[in-house]
Amino acid sequence: MADQSTTQSDTGIIIFDHPLIAHKLATIRNRETGHRLFRAALSQIAGLMVYEVTRSLPTAVIQVETPMVTTECAVIKGAITIVPVLRAGLGMIDGILDVMPEARIGHLGLARDEQTLEPVAYLNRLPIDLDAGPVILVDPMLATGGSASAALTMLRQAGATDIRMICLVAAPEGIERLRKDHPDVTLYAAALDERLNEKGYIMPGLGDAGDRMYGTV
Ligand code: PRP
Ligand code: URA
Repeated sequence: MADQSTTQSDTGIIIFDHPLIAHKLATIRNRETGHRLFRAALSQIAGLMVYEVTRSLPTAVIQVETPMVTTECAVIKGAITIVPVLRAGLGMIDGILDVMPEARIGHLGLARDEQTLEPVAYLNRLPIDLDAGPVILVDPMLATGGSASAALTMLRQAGATDIRMICLVAAPEGIERLRKDHPDVTLYAAALDERLNEKGYIMPGLGDAGDRMYGTV
């Protein structure tokens, strides 16, 4: 459930409302920020978001022997799989693994056609037992929602049943698309932006996340 660090709108998306995340996001949005600092801030924000995103993960009770006595402890149930959407999703992985080093990583490669704005899939490398635990899809940008919707469909086709998604910046158009195509997936975003421009870029946004991350602008 949402706490003081998040707000949940009636669209089902959970938006983070946290000074540290807002501060780092200002660095990422700034056009003067170079790829090295961009990558660092993106990874740090992902690490900060993970605490809230994992709040609803299923747990199991196990017996643990402390030096004093045997007691019951809660541990996360099943294998967690993190799935970044290449390229830009890779920028959030290190921050997440700092908190959950035991997580498995699947990869989905999707590139948006700049003319049609439709996603084109070029890579699909996922664990064969995706239903063995929760799956967290990671992509900093939710613009039209086409890439995220296609990625979620690929996860379902591969067997995932318990899916969450983390993005950095979401546009209302993308949220609407996800609510329509995948209404059961909980979406976590660091910011809800205003709109898309005529080229499908998020406004105010941060530009092309993959290019800014890798210095290929
Ligand atoms: C960006 C971003 C998303 C997608 C969002 O990737 O990382 O995957 O665009 O746009 P959409 O919501 O309209 O589908 P892009 O296709 O630019 O590939 P890249 O990460 O390799 O630059
Ligand atoms: N992809 C990006 O990287 N940025 C946008 O603003 C929209 C799609």
